[in-house]
Amino acid sequence: MAKSAKTEKASKKDAPEAGAPKIDIGISANDRKKIAEGLSRFLADSFTLYLKTHNFHWNVTGPMFNTLHVMFEGQYTEQWTALDETAERIRALGFNAPGSYAEFIKLTSIVEEPGLTDTADWREMVRQLVAGNEAVCRTARKVLKIADDAGDDPTTDLLTQRLNIHEKNAWMLRSLLA
Ligand SMILES: [Fe+2]
Repeated sequence: MAKSAKTEKASKKDAPEAGAPKIDIGISANDRKKIAEGLSRFLADSFTLYLKTHNFHWNVTGPMFNTLHVMFEGQYTEQWTALDETAERIRALGFNAPGSYAEFIKLTSIVEEPGLTDTADWREMVRQLVAGNEAVCRTARKVLKIADDAGDDPTTDLLTQRLNIHEKNAWMLRSLLA
């Protein structure tokens, strides 16, 4: 029996080829999901460290003020730019990037610095930033392993670059306490 014109129009609209094609980049859907979840944790750590570094740029006091104010600015500016690349890699893998404080707090492994009235002294700030940069490195290494096993070279490349930066930051910050 011939289909009516109306039914034919509706079935054309609902046909799979009418929408965006499925992602087919040579990484399985399961692996893409695992990598995206890992990158979301990495993004949350990176954002939390970025915010803490900016916080300390604002609130640092003492004889090291000028050195640290300028050093923290260099670090948070670089980190801010890198957040975008991580979030957009998650999108390219087919998933939504976390982008709210509620999500970041849930996903991050870094403890926030809470106080306005009890702001940490400069040595404690530097210690926290050493720990924060190292926490970012640990998360990056775990996700890098997942990405490497799945043959996801762009994510492996991105995380390798981030490891280079955060390990260098940790070294420079630690040197202030020697
Ligand atoms: Fe500033």
